[in-house]
Amino acid sequence: MNFRSQTLLQALEHLSAAYPNQPLNVIEVGCMFKEDEGLSTYYIADFLATRGKGDRFISIEYDQGHIEASQAIIAKRKASLSQQIDYRHGHSLEVLPGALTQVGQVHLVCLDGGAHPEVCLAEFEQAASHLAPNGIVLVDDAQTLAPSAAYQPPRPFGKATLILPMLVLLNYLKHRAEFREANTSPADQTGIPDSDLIRQCETVRFAAIDADHFAVIGDRHKILVYGDPAFIIQAAQISVGSKLVQKLTQNSVSLQSTSKNLNASASNSSPLTSLTQRLAALLRGQ
Ligand SMILES: C[S@@+](CC[C@H](N)C(=O)[O-])C[C@H]1O[C@@H](n2cnc3c(N)ncnc32)[C@H](O)[C@@H]1O
Repeated sequence: MNFRSQTLLQALEHLSAAYPNQPLNVIEVGCMFKEDEGLSTYYIADFLATRGKGDRFISIEYDQGHIEASQAIIAKRKASLSQQIDYRHGHSLEVLPGALTQVGQVHLVCLDGGAHPEVCLAEFEQAASHLAPNGIVLVDDAQTLAPSAAYQPPRPFGKATLILPMLVLLNYLKHRAEFREANTSPADQTGIPDSDLIRQCETVRFAAIDADHFAVIGDRHKILVYGDPAFIIQAAQISVGSKLVQKLTQNSVSLQSTSKNLNASASNSSPLTSLTQRLAALLRGQ
């Protein structure tokens, strides 16, 4: 299971605990269509079917061939899940507003469609406007994306290239007054920032977005997480934890070779023999 699917399942578990007896509404943009990709559609459907609380799952996809490929994967893996998935064929900008209005409040939105930054931002704004209390929005592929034939300008935050700066800006505007003097040297009033751009942005407000709660998690593959602050903390910890496990696994390979070297030197009858033997045993975890 890859990082995207792990994060999706953690989000579903978190929401399931927050709403133990109520149905969840889940929407994804961009269905799975390859066995060796994320399998998001399968994992979400499987989780909700197992949960069995009458949850709703809408998967929006503009490529009919991908919907069929997704249905074939479901048929092969667990045919009964097909009843759990409400595929909607069409462009997210056309289909998402109607789907959100239909469900009223959405608990989890997974944005994993195209990578045009403004399309992603529009999807995000719509999702945030319908988010249930404790709800979560995941924006997949928030790592740098290379220019494509359809879009050549830089995308340093991938699908979150406009979402992340917007969240940072909204957050900054919200807290600007508290920190304006943060960089002023003692007895010097000229350190108060007064950027032209920020002054012009000061009127920008987007009531539906709570810009206090978001984070980018992951290493090479990154995901922007927005919504429930408790989940954001948990997701960030798990992401740091999995990096740590990777590091420890790499380190344990070098510890094992250090342990072998120490064993070899311990077998020479040097004055350090017992110390190196004990150290080698410790490194082997004995
Ligand atoms: C990265 S793939 C999705 C991968 C999938 N979530 C998984 O876990 O395997 C992106 C999908 O989004 C679809 N897509 C791209 N832009 C879209 C849009 N604006 N509206 C609907 N679907 C879109 C593509 O056709 C493609 O099937």
